[in-house]
Amino acid sequence: MTLTIQRDQTPESFTLQATKAVTLLSALYEIKSKLDPTLTFGAGCCSGVCGSCAILVNGKEQLACGYKYQDNDLIEPLRYHPVLRDLKVDKTKAHDTIKKVVGQPHTSTEIPTLSDESKTKKQTDCILCDSCYSACPVLAVNPDFLGPFALTRAWRYIAGSPQRNQGRPQGGAPTIAAIQHNGIWDCTLCGECTVACPQGIDPKTDIMMLRGESGKAGYSDPNFAVQDFGTPNFGSGFV
Ligand code: SF4
Ligand code: SF4
Ligand code: FES
Repeated sequence: MTLTIQRDQTPESFTLQATKAVTLLSALYEIKSKLDPTLTFGAGCCSGVCGSCAILVNGKEQLACGYKYQDNDLIEPLRYHPVLRDLKVDKTKAHDTIKKVVGQPHTSTEIPTLSDESKTKKQTDCILCDSCYSACPVLAVNPDFLGPFALTRAWRYIAGSPQRNQGRPQGGAPTIAAIQHNGIWDCTLCGECTVACPQGIDPKTDIMMLRGESGKAGYSDPNFAVQDFGTPNFGSGFV
């Protein structure tokens, strides 16, 4: 089977002797040990937990440790991340978006219920693989967009009953304020992040929930504010 790997913007093909489908990560290790020891890629747990091995396979985000590779697959590094070497990318800028959504630490006066906890139980499965970030088309035109996993994190910070949020610093208002610019209103709700997530997390829905909470807090979509629909002409006799 043959794999083509994009290395420093140049495709390079490797032929492997595999007779049955193995994970892409195993294939990358085989290439590194038998064909080219300089091949560089991210990996850690080898079991879908650490998020280090996310890459593009034929243009779609995959965890290399979970994907069974096919003949002639094209392997590339994640989008919107500086490439350190081959398939290994620098995730610093992407992960810094989490700091920008302003964390709401738990406090002793917070009263979470089982219902509160269940609202963001799935989101706690995020492994920061950056697949959703790589899949998001907004980042192609706005590199400062907070991106899907940071906004999902923001929803984790503020989701819950009013009683719970009363026990939080300023009731969650700092988080809501932090996601107005380059945040929830820049999202096109395309759903690509949701499709890309290997953990079954749904950032698109979290963003819609954040829009609802922002509306309750008095914010509105700035895109509507600048749209001019014109003055209707009802005719000269209309007063
Ligand atoms: S739904 Fe929003 S955050 Fe998700 S990929 Fe589309 S534009 Fe990006
Ligand atoms: S939300 Fe999903 S795709 Fe995005 S970083 Fe977390 S685990 Fe990866
Ligand atoms: S190596 Fe940890 S998720 Fe793939």
